Amino acid sequence: MNVALGADHGGFELKQYLSTLLKKNHYEIIDEGNFTFDPQDDYPDFAKKVAETVAAGKAERGIIICGSGVGACITANKIKGIRACLCHDTYSAHQGVEHDAMNILCLGARIIGTELAKELVFSFLNAKFINEERFVRRLEKINSIDKQ
Ligand code: RB5
Repeated sequence: MNVALGADHGGFELKQYLSTLLKKNHYEIIDEGNFTFDPQDDYPDFAKKVAETVAAGKAERGIIICGSGVGACITANKIKGIRACLCHDTYSAHQGVEHDAMNILCLGARIIGTELAKELVFSFLNAKFINEERFVRRLEKINSIDKQ
């Protein structure tokens, strides 16, 4: 699976950790930056790139990290076709994919530690959308808002 990653200075260190971990676990990583630690950088730049990569189908899933995860999530959801959520519990990280077709996981590196981040990421990446009528119906309603 191709996974796009992005982070500002608040999430840079966690992004580097997750990138190494995911590569070891045979995921294809598309790193959308930042590529160096820059305390002056801005999360919308990286969140937008990850969201566009996922929306274009170049990556099946995305993970965006900032200090809280909030800014990353606000930015990513501006892009049509993106269903990004800030999840700091493993239930939401997999149920968000299973019921809601969440395609981007946002994390707050100042809130959670690396072990929880690891569990959240694998819960998210291992989950699959459940193709039941009620979930498809709700997804179509979300998609119709994207078309407005
Ligand atoms: C950057 O200092 C911080 O504001 C940003 O990473 C993020 O927390 C925004 O939501």
